[in-house]
Amino acid sequence: MSRVINFGAGPSALPESVLQEAALGLLDFDGTGIGIAEISHRSKQFTAFLNDVESLICTQLEVPPTHSILFTQGGGTGQFSAIVLNLLARHRLLHPDLANEDRVLDYVITGSWSKKATEEARRLGGGRVNVVVDARPYSKDAKSFDNIPPHNTYTFSPDPALIYYCENETVDGVQFSSDVSSPNSFPFHLLPQEGLLPLVADYSSSFMSRPITRLADHAVIYAGAQKNIGPAGLTIIIVRNDCLVDVDAAAKLGAIPVPISMSYKTLADGNSVYNTPPVLPIYISGLVLRRMKELGGVQYFEQLNKRKADKLYAAIQAGEDKGLFKAKVQEGSRSLMNVVFDVIGDEAKFVAGAEEKGMKAIKGHRSVGGIRISLYNAVTEEQTDAIVEYMKQFVSDTDTQGQA
Ligand SMILES: Cc1ncc(COP(=O)(O)O)c(C=O)c1O
Repeated sequence: MSRVINFGAGPSALPESVLQEAALGLLDFDGTGIGIAEISHRSKQFTAFLNDVESLICTQLEVPPTHSILFTQGGGTGQFSAIVLNLLARHRLLHPDLANEDRVLDYVITGSWSKKATEEARRLGGGRVNVVVDARPYSKDAKSFDNIPPHNTYTFSPDPALIYYCENETVDGVQFSSDVSSPNSFPFHLLPQEGLLPLVADYSSSFMSRPITRLADHAVIYAGAQKNIGPAGLTIIIVRNDCLVDVDAAAKLGAIPVPISMSYKTLADGNSVYNTPPVLPIYISGLVLRRMKELGGVQYFEQLNKRKADKLYAAIQAGEDKGLFKAKVQEGSRSLMNVVFDVIGDEAKFVAGAEEKGMKAIKGHRSVGGIRISLYNAVTEEQTDAIVEYMKQFVSDTDTQGQA
């Protein structure tokens, strides 16, 4: 068996040691004699495993007791809908008499995924969408997602039902800085100051890659597992307990009814086994999280991921100096997880050369083109060094040919 280096944006690389362990678990989970894909989600052994996964997330991210962790299906896209429905229900219970046009949903748009989330909020109705800021006018060509916009451009509403942002834009390679004093951070200081804020963050492509900035100030944080921690099929939600509301009581007051499998309170009351959760993805994610803890937790990965991204951006800069590469995202807004750039000239040759060396899935998202190299937790520093080395070689070969 020979495995390639997978720089895919998701589903993406998983640690080989975990895959080997998981293969054994498929045959016999935890000495039960039953495979993990066959065992009941209500069995004593799986319940213990699920509790352990929860505590591995809680301890590594320092989730406070004000928040609960939920495991479900439906991916990030499912959450685009669930956040709107649950938080509109919460808002209805808090303000039963407001007209729908006075229920404001605040969306910060910094890339393709936050744009999609905004479209879903508009589609569902039940409130008025306010675009807090759209990053495109602040881009170099005035139409692309290449930046975290300046703080003075954000227009938050005074008492919204929801305030939404996407921490890392997987397609566009744009990420908020985790340093709250940076001009590229999420502007927590500009949020309305009163009450428990309905702040929602999509962490799909940066979950467990570094600590979550101001986690306790969020109402909901969600992530599909298929980038940093496991296979597709599992969605993890960290929800503040005041957002576990009786959605049926809200519906009686006029809120949009919430499908039962999307109700945060139903999931929480049922300890995430109200219905069958994605047992196998939970298992593999749990093994990844255990390994993370052994290696030094999310802090270890934060350092590692920073080193990997620094090396890759330096290689892009070196190519840019020779007129052969072009970073797509403005400095300060660049993602540590999804590194995007253009090859000036023969992109197909660049991709083919990488593939020949066993480095796969480096093409940009079909909507934006270019190159995208994803550096999720399971991509090792050695693998990053390999692509950096290849990029250096590509630059020096092309440069020499250009001079000949
Ligand atoms: C940041 C982000 N949000 C949401 C989604 C949608 O997630 P899913 O495909 O799990 O529905 C993705 C998928 O790549 C994503 O990267």
